[in-house]
Amino acid sequence: MHNEIEKILVTREEIAKKCAEIGQQLTTEYDGKFPLAIGVLKGAMPFMSDVLRYTETHLEMDFMDVSSYGGAMRSSGEVKIEKDLNTKVEGRDLLIIEDIIDSGLTLSYLVDLFKYRKAKSIRIVTLLDKPSGRTAEIKADIIGFNVPDEFVVGYGLDYQERYRNLPYIGVLKPEIYGGEEA
Ligand code: PRP
Ligand code: MN
Ligand code: MG
Repeated sequence: MHNEIEKILVTREEIAKKCAEIGQQLTTEYDGKFPLAIGVLKGAMPFMSDVLRYTETHLEMDFMDVSSYGGAMRSSGEVKIEKDLNTKVEGRDLLIIEDIIDSGLTLSYLVDLFKYRKAKSIRIVTLLDKPSGRTAEIKADIIGFNVPDEFVVGYGLDYQERYRNLPYIGVLKPEIYGGEEA
């Protein structure tokens, strides 16, 4: 698997250090509160697991799985809920946890949805931000690392469902994905 990676952008040590930093920041921000941490499946799974280990406040965890409609529909921002939350959002302090923001369509849909459901506050933490991909106006409150416009995989991020279990963020060799646009 590792020989299919062209280069490593963020090492496992850098990720671990960042998770500790962000976890401490969240500890301060949510002191005395009881936020609902929402992981966006599947990509956010490793980051959510690691960052919340360092967050020393009471919190609740839940998960949401959404997928954007493929092809031309994607630019419309249409998102389909594959799995909804089990928890009521009304009046809650929400912390949405993502692995990466690219176009921003996934998150802008979720933020609108949670506003409609009357969340008290909504904050976004993402491990990676790819600002060059943005079409929807969305900004994270906490960003781990900025990444360039490259095909990144690992630590939750997949290419055709593979590579999520890599311990680092890497760039896939072009011959693996046929050189198509990321
Ligand atoms: C990826 C990633 C983010 C989203 C970002 O998820 O994990 O959730 O895309 O892209 P956007 O900003 O352009 O919306 P994907 O839909 O591939 O599902 P996955 O997490 O299950 O891989
Ligand atoms: Mn995702
Ligand atoms: Mg994916």
